[in-house]
Amino acid sequence: YDPKVPLSNTSDPTSFAWTSARERWPVILTGAIDDLHKAVSKEQDPERQEEGKKITAGLATLKYELQHNRQLTPLQDDGGSDIAAYNKELEQRGNPKWHDVAWLYAECYLYRRMATLFALSKHWKHYDVFSKQKMSTFRSSRPAVLELAARYNDLTKQLQSDQSALGSASEEERETAEKLLFVEMCEICLWGNATDLSLLTNLSYDDIQKLQGKDARKANEDKIIVNNFPAAFASLKKSKNAGAKERRVDIVLDNAGFELFVDLILAGYLLQAGLATNIVLHPKNIPWFVSDVIPKDFSDLLNVLVGAKDFYETPSEEDKAKGVTPPKLSDKETSDLQALFQNWSSLYAEGKIVLRPNVFWTEGGSYWRLPQTAPSLYEDLKESELVIFKGDLNYRKLTGDAMWDPATPFTEAIGPMGPGSGVRVLALRTCKADVVVGLAKGEDEKLRALEGGGGDSGARKWAWSGKWAVVSFCDGKA
Ligand code: F6P
Ligand code: MG
Repeated sequence: YDPKVPLSNTSDPTSFAWTSARERWPVILTGAIDDLHKAVSKEQDPERQEEGKKITAGLATLKYELQHNRQLTPLQDDGGSDIAAYNKELEQRGNPKWHDVAWLYAECYLYRRMATLFALSKHWKHYDVFSKQKMSTFRSSRPAVLELAARYNDLTKQLQSDQSALGSASEEERETAEKLLFVEMCEICLWGNATDLSLLTNLSYDDIQKLQGKDARKANEDKIIVNNFPAAFASLKKSKNAGAKERRVDIVLDNAGFELFVDLILAGYLLQAGLATNIVLHPKNIPWFVSDVIPKDFSDLLNVLVGAKDFYETPSEEDKAKGVTPPKLSDKETSDLQALFQNWSSLYAEGKIVLRPNVFWTEGGSYWRLPQTAPSLYEDLKESELVIFKGDLNYRKLTGDAMWDPATPFTEAIGPMGPGSGVRVLALRTCKADVVVGLAKGEDEKLRALEGGGGDSGARKWAWSGKWAVVSFCDGKA
């Protein structure tokens, strides 16, 4: 159930897979080891300490094997229902080495293997080595968070007062206004994906802020090189007009922190605008690709909003080192965050927003396999009006992470998830990997010719940085 086109492989020196296996993953593992080491050294209980040390050693072994290009070893059985399939695939792939293995499989294996170390422990089962990093980056998103909280609350009021501003507008004018708003909310949600932590291993405060906020979005509109927002809007609008009682929208989540924040902005907007009647969010079960959402990140985010003053005004370790005190939140900012919390928690309490984890999302294969290997999840997604896949990894999984000609239609590259699948797919992705499809002929060449785009090197470097985005839609119900 995989594409026939060759897959991205860590042995290809022109690929981002190459750089990932040799440079990025060791850095990520080092970060995980440091985090755990700190946590272990704060531990009082000798048994916990001992066990923590063992896990640290396991992570160090993994890093050693990776850096010395050893074979990937079978995963230890930690009781997970996905272990057998990981190991079977490893064997089918001929027990590959780290520097010559399908990128997608190897990267999933990496995080799954880390998870086995924790799952097999007694005291560290639920420990997330990436949690602190997720939180501290979220803290750095403060200006954009405050801006968006204010915008969301204004919008909520406007939508609740039945769009009084549009009271005398014609049906056509209303629809145009509605569409503009939809696109704005989706763009917010799209660019929120630019700040994921697995790629930007050392992002500064300034970098983060440059990627967020209204001005950044305006400036970036021409960076969306495939833009199917109109088709996505049209399909939601059509279902709304058809008057079906239940119209569900799903979001296959990507990163925690700021991206989850903007996903909830979009979710709340869709509900309040009547473009959806309920939202299903799909998180991961285990810490994944550094910053991906696990259920605890969702509650952590709500807790931040409740305790916003504390969260934003208490100096972090970094602040202390620099001798700076974070500015106080104004009364308006505090009440904006409170209002947002109220709004989201009531949507959650009413069951209009639900979280629905599934082991499928952290399996080693692509979404080409979904109908075969996760039939009940597949049936469930068919119930949805629109399934929004966030981010780079979800896009790689939709397209099988294969080396498609970039002019291949998206509908073809997603294989079994394409036309006739019964699933309506919308991918919101900032490009952070080699695979890209749905481009106009010649577009890839044009982008390669730009500064830093890769030129004649054979590498599609423009697609690695998160600076360009694709918004691809496929109506699998058509
Ligand atoms: O391509 C680099 C990378 O870090 C991949 O590991 C992964 O596909 C992706 O970016 C993570 O980004 P996102 O959080 O958008 O899925
Ligand atoms: Mg991610």
